[in-house]
Amino acid sequence: MTAEVVASTDPRTRSDGLGWVSRALFGDERVALTADGGPPAGHRAVARYAVVPSLARARFLLPLGAPRATAASLLAYNALRPPRVRAVRAVLGGLSRVGALRRAFPTLTVSMPAGGEASELLLAERLAVALGGAPLHAACGVRPPDPNHKPTLQLFTVDGRPRGYAKIGWNGATRALVTAEIAALRALAEVTGVPDHPGTPRLLAQLDWAGQMVAVVEPLPSRVRGVPVTDRPRIAALLAVARRGAPPAPPRPLAGSPFLARLATEAARAASATSSGARAVAAVTGLERRHGQTAVEFGHWHGDWVPWNLGLHDGRLVAWDWEHSGQEVPLGFDLAHDAFQRAVVLRGEPAGTAAEAVDAQLDRYGDRLGLGPTQRRLVADGYLLELWLRTWRLAEGGAGWNATLHPALLDIVTKRHMA
Ligand SMILES: Nc1ncnc2c1ncn2[C@@H]1O[C@H](COP(=O)(O)OP(=O)(O)O)[C@@H](O)[C@H]1O
Ligand SMILES: [Mg+2]
Repeated sequence: MTAEVVASTDPRTRSDGLGWVSRALFGDERVALTADGGPPAGHRAVARYAVVPSLARARFLLPLGAPRATAASLLAYNALRPPRVRAVRAVLGGLSRVGALRRAFPTLTVSMPAGGEASELLLAERLAVALGGAPLHAACGVRPPDPNHKPTLQLFTVDGRPRGYAKIGWNGATRALVTAEIAALRALAEVTGVPDHPGTPRLLAQLDWAGQMVAVVEPLPSRVRGVPVTDRPRIAALLAVARRGAPPAPPRPLAGSPFLARLATEAARAASATSSGARAVAAVTGLERRHGQTAVEFGHWHGDWVPWNLGLHDGRLVAWDWEHSGQEVPLGFDLAHDAFQRAVVLRGEPAGTAAEAVDAQLDRYGDRLGLGPTQRRLVADGYLLELWLRTWRLAEGGAGWNATLHPALLDIVTKRHMA
């Protein structure tokens, strides 16, 4: 009887965001998870979370073990959030200080069987050990399940200090992204004292555990603010990201570049996996035919350079979310991406209009990157193809096609090569 009751209230059986997140956080079946109930017989409770605002519409899980950690999990980084979310969190943060959350929202109880070791069965406990062993409390956002999204944990000390931010790669697509971000952050840790280079959170720990790849990064500075979405692109910072303190690399032709070779390899992989991949192979050929002799500078890129992955702290730029970063791409890719994403995400424009925004942004700022008209065209054409390949990789990871980008990007790239 008890077992039946437990099973029916176990949020891990749900098909919504709460189910998805709780399976990621409490994946071990020896751990018991009960909504609005105590631990099952023979178990002891090790953690409790408030499910806000309700089980059916859960948006976040707040740790209830330590009031200051609860309040901090609501109030930290509020400057990065949209005003309405910020206001709700501020109110809840006030309530949490007087212990009212426990009564206001459903509670999730996490319990261990007799003899079970929390640090072996629970991700948050495991991360606390990796970060030095002091007890930590974890808060977690809940979003609808999506094969390309990563559950994330904000980790706080008992007295409410942010201790780390964990991203959980749980399937093929997201494990690859988290692994790439780990590699990028390791490399960036060596980039010090480069003028204009944005600050980047350090990697604190990496965990490859129970089929998950987890990166724990340093908390962002507590007073960080988002970069206004209408700000101009920060060209000096983009150059610093591309060059990492090295002098400008001499321009090299596209033909024979490692960049072109990589695009060709990825397009061939796409062609063996999906029918539209053949069009990408043709687009790589078209890119070489049109731009093979054009010489450009190659360098690193952030890979998702958009205002919402950038912040300001004491007037200094901070950049996070390095999971798409890479090297050996034409200088200007981040500038192109910034224009494209602002068009699609902020203005809801179709890919064709966004591609025009890329051209316009490159025309406007390209000379500061040393790009003449033919080079700007190479950067835009190459970027759009790169973005289609990313779209394909994400689709292959299980998310299905992004309808804004596919097949539109292939159509656009093909048309541009004929123009
Ligand atoms: N180190 C950190 N400390 C605190 N908050 C962070 C940190 N890194 C990211 N965040 C917050 O979480 C959000 C999502 O993280 P991000 O790395 O951009 O992942 P995603 O790939 O999901 O966009 C960010 O926009 C930021 O508000
Ligand atoms: Mg992001």
